[in-house]
Amino acid sequence: MRCDDKLATARNDLSDARGIPVSYSNKEAIVALENAHESFLAFHGDPLEMVNTIIERHPDFMLAHLFKAACLTQTIENRVRDDLVNTVSAAEALSATATDRELAHLRAVSAWITGDVSAAVTEWENALAHNPLDLLALQIIHLTYVLFGQVKGQRDVVARVFTYWDESIVGYEHVLGFYAFGLEENGEYERAEQMAKRSISLRSENPYAVHAIVHIMDMQGRYREGLAFMYDHAERWTASGFTVHLWWHTALMHLDLQDFERVLEIYDSELRASQDTASLYEEFDATALLWRLRLLGVDVGDRWIELADKWEPSAKDTLYAFNNAHAMMALVSDSRHIASQVLLETNDRYARESSNDNAVAIRTVGLLFCHAIKDFHENRYAECVDRLLAVRHQLDHLGGSYVQREVLIWTMFEASIRAGRYALAVALANERCELKPGSVQRWLDLARGLHGLGDMSASTAANDKAAVILAEHNDRSQTLES
Ligand SMILES: [Fe+2]
Repeated sequence: MRCDDKLATARNDLSDARGIPVSYSNKEAIVALENAHESFLAFHGDPLEMVNTIIERHPDFMLAHLFKAACLTQTIENRVRDDLVNTVSAAEALSATATDRELAHLRAVSAWITGDVSAAVTEWENALAHNPLDLLALQIIHLTYVLFGQVKGQRDVVARVFTYWDESIVGYEHVLGFYAFGLEENGEYERAEQMAKRSISLRSENPYAVHAIVHIMDMQGRYREGLAFMYDHAERWTASGFTVHLWWHTALMHLDLQDFERVLEIYDSELRASQDTASLYEEFDATALLWRLRLLGVDVGDRWIELADKWEPSAKDTLYAFNNAHAMMALVSDSRHIASQVLLETNDRYARESSNDNAVAIRTVGLLFCHAIKDFHENRYAECVDRLLAVRHQLDHLGGSYVQREVLIWTMFEASIRAGRYALAVALANERCELKPGSVQRWLDLARGLHGLGDMSASTAANDKAAVILAEHNDRSQTLES
């Protein structure tokens, strides 16, 4: 539905497409903001560029400033901080005529810039409770819960308002996409898949729902099926702003199927190529992929160099704990000793001197992971294992998805093998095989642990199991291709 049509269905000219009052009376501006929001939801185009144009023409449009501020919160990078603070100030200056919903959004972004993410989310939740069709609040809460590892919240924020939504309401397909991902992260794969497929049926080019599907496939070890889905539906995501992350997921499935050549092809053509203009989020994916290859002993050539170049300026960045762990992977892998030390010292000082939510995450888990990565690189495998073991059940606090955080569990496994702690390695591998029995890599890992323990027959059996799974995947591949 075009936004002009959406507005025609709104209750009056001072409402958005879902009938929520807006304290600005220019219909054209409201339509333009709806388009910018749709761009943000669908990972299509540049919502910030769109909202900047709107603000230029309509500087008194408070909701446009609030939308821009909400978008900027999700960047989690120091480079946008001044823009975010100025945008919040501009919104605040217009608050005299604001609606209650707009005031709640203003309190949310105001809390965010002080570092109080919990207070910010509480305000957005307040806005959503009063306006269950507030799609911006719903989206930002969901994404913030993903960023900061509030796993149940990712699902439950949608559950709280889902009863008010149906396909007659503009943006329903996105709500289904958020719900699908939240359900997936909470292990409710069947329902998640239903939601994601329903979302895609309503809107074929829907990268977030595609993303939910690829997570479901990964978590269930449905790699060959997942690859078929991704390649068959490439038109739904390869032109989107989510492309790099979705290629990363595709590469991970090839990785489990031991097709390292294809993994490196994807890295070079899709992840590496984006590096000139990449956001940290994209560098994050590239780093995580190279680190996984490193754990497997795959030669990645000189690929770490340009990635370390990208991360090095962020060594003093204290905004996001999970970024730090990834920055450390790149910095140590290219022997950037000074930068890795700067990262540790900057974040150590920040964690001691600040009390906001991010500082707590860095203090409790973030720094430990950075040290563990450094330990691994410097062959102190036992120390690496001990650090990770101590916080392994607090992994959620790092944020991101289960699949993203899995890199640290994998690091712990590899370090335990290299430290000669085979019983632990076997225990970790058994756990991972049990949770994802369709993974070739996990059975290969188990075989290595058992070999270390000296249980050769069990090791051979685990290797055989990996071979059988790989053959089943390949058989399935031929069936899917025929
Ligand atoms: Fe993902």
